[in-house]
Amino acid sequence: MVHNLKDNVFVYRGPEEVSGALAKFLVETINESISTEGICTVALSGGSTPKTLFRVLAGKYRGSVDWSSVGFFWVDERCVPPDDPESNYGMTMENLLGRIVIHPSCIHRIIGENDPDREAVRYSGEIRKFVHSRDGLPCFDIILLGVGEDGHTASIFPGSEELFLDKRICVSATHPVTGQRRITITGKVINNGSCVVILAAGRGKSAIIGEVLGAKRAGTGYPVGRVSPEKGILLWYLDSEAASGIDRAADDLSPVV
Ligand code: 6PG
Repeated sequence: MVHNLKDNVFVYRGPEEVSGALAKFLVETINESISTEGICTVALSGGSTPKTLFRVLAGKYRGSVDWSSVGFFWVDERCVPPDDPESNYGMTMENLLGRIVIHPSCIHRIIGENDPDREAVRYSGEIRKFVHSRDGLPCFDIILLGVGEDGHTASIFPGSEELFLDKRICVSATHPVTGQRRITITGKVINNGSCVVILAAGRGKSAIIGEVLGAKRAGTGYPVGRVSPEKGILLWYLDSEAASGIDRAADDLSPVV
């Protein structure tokens, strides 16, 4: 059963179903942007959840998009070389970009092996150069976010909520548990996106999502709870396990045909 909560929260049975539905939506959105603007700029998250989504895009939808009209960027990156198993770029190459026909100039990698602070400045410049601006900030056509069990999104972790007020485009960050250095776009850039999608699957995300989307809206203090596009749309694509903590009234769950 697929549910569409009133505020654009779409719930599907499992990871395959939610990835299939999101892939279809993204292809439609990308093609709409290409037809009207000639290009679509997409900022991707890493981690493990997007792998299924990326495989569907590279498989079923491999021929459905002129991928060389898409500018691919990253929401964040671990400060490791591209061949490191931790690399978001490496994961994306393996599951998507290495499987489609795309010109290398369309792929804007965060250079994880660079000095983090200098790379944050460099990548900010690359985003400025290739992504159109709105209200003085880069405006990505699509931003794909994940959510951590601690409520982080991108590499904005709890305790770093000031990064939703930071005027910079990218900053360096540090994972609070592992100490891993990261590069991340800031909250203002996230909230300047035209179409911001949060993808989550699995029971491990249910508690945090239940706090953010539940009737009490208790999770608005978490970084992921602060994602609120000012002029764009926010969509949640969840599987039933990730959504299982949402204590919304039954009348919020309207079956989607
Ligand atoms: C990263 C991501 C991060 C991710 C969440 C969820 O670099 O890890 O950008 O924000 O989206 O941590 O990760 P999983 O999909 O692995 O649960």
